[in-house]
Amino acid sequence: MPTAPDKSPAPGDWTPTSWQARPAAQQPVYPDPEALHRVLGQLARLPPLVTSWEIENLKLQLAEATRGERFLLQGGDCSESFDDCESAAIASKLKILLQMSLVLVQGGKRRVTRIGRFAGQYAKPRSTDTETQNGVTLPSYRGDMINCAGFTPEDRVANPDLLLRAYERSGLTINFIRSLIEGGFADLHHPEYWGLGFVANSPHAVEYTRMVESIGESLRFMETLTGSVMADINRVDFYTSHEGLHLYYEQVQTRQVPRRPGWYNLSTHFPWVGDRTRALDGAHIEYFRGISNPIGVKVGPSITPDALVALAERLNPQNEPGRLTFIHRFGADRVEKCLPPLAEAIRRSGQQVLWCCDPMHGNTETTKSGIKTRRFEKILGELETSCRVLKACGTHLGGVHFELTGDNVTECIGGASGVTEADLSRDYRSTLDPRLNYEQAMEMALLLARLLAQNR
Ligand code: PEP
Ligand code: CO
Repeated sequence: MPTAPDKSPAPGDWTPTSWQARPAAQQPVYPDPEALHRVLGQLARLPPLVTSWEIENLKLQLAEATRGERFLLQGGDCSESFDDCESAAIASKLKILLQMSLVLVQGGKRRVTRIGRFAGQYAKPRSTDTETQNGVTLPSYRGDMINCAGFTPEDRVANPDLLLRAYERSGLTINFIRSLIEGGFADLHHPEYWGLGFVANSPHAVEYTRMVESIGESLRFMETLTGSVMADINRVDFYTSHEGLHLYYEQVQTRQVPRRPGWYNLSTHFPWVGDRTRALDGAHIEYFRGISNPIGVKVGPSITPDALVALAERLNPQNEPGRLTFIHRFGADRVEKCLPPLAEAIRRSGQQVLWCCDPMHGNTETTKSGIKTRRFEKILGELETSCRVLKACGTHLGGVHFELTGDNVTECIGGASGVTEADLSRDYRSTLDPRLNYEQAMEMALLLARLLAQNR
């Protein structure tokens, strides 16, 4: 019987530049291509930000999460800004993720892998190429790596020097994170200093208090046992991630290393493909199929079960465990309908994937006064439904992906601390998507720990 011609590219056809023959969505247009290529040449000579052995360790951890032995916590800003590359902002982002992970370890009773959405999250996909204000039309702002947020022609021109600045700031960020972790965070060891006053206002106050107390007891127990300050915390692994959107930038970070086969993107441990750039025959999937890093693909309501299986086969032809994470983001109202046929199709295909829920991007809404926000209950609702639906499909929720910050901004509505719609304008700092604040993120971790414990 004649078979349909196989249109998938052969593995041997891949190079770090083979994406260039494919349609590349969401790329900036540089008015001076020579200047771009000069910068790319400089970037290609700079030392990498991460190493292949860290990347391979993360892949092993994600393989454990795929088997249900571990849980993935990924979080950070929608987009980093050059202005926020300063010590307090970096420390508070790291701290909230470490604290949340301690809650998840304690409540969920399994190990947790932490991946920050930072040290490189500087390029953003946009729904339109241009923005019009008062009759003036300019290119859209695409993230600090590409242009500037101000609304003047000079701000919005794509400037290749910003790629270098982004790389350098990513290096500064990761350097500071590595030193903070190396030194240990003293006040992590004492949940009583965490700023959990909001817990008292929750209907789950007693349960939260018990969980936090038991974290404190475990930490003190470990200290007594090891005779040192919480050895485990001082040795946590921490990984970085960003959306692999700007393909020239990713290409020049793609390197071979001694004594290991393959190509690694050494600008981050875990790059992901966005929901808008995941076309099977597009440039992003072509680039991602050839790198050895563990990778994520965001999937929203427009994906079909066949398209999802085709993506898994293209991106992970060897079905290597830990290689592929689907970060699903349907929204609380659609997840019940969208997720089961996808999980079912993947189960039937035999592909090993990690299911990670991004409960943020399908739950964005705009208030009557025009402020972009997200509701705590919807975020939690999407997590709860995902957990239940995946279990019913014979698999499990293996991770979560949040947009959050360690500061008490007012960008999302709800939670025990009681941020209302009227509060949003009080301290709204994000230039793009609204983030969970410190209290909302901690409460989300407590509720998620409870959910994981119930679903063991
Ligand atoms: C994001 O993660 O900020 C984003 C743009 O998400 P998505 O690709 O899921 O829309
Ligand atoms: Co976002």
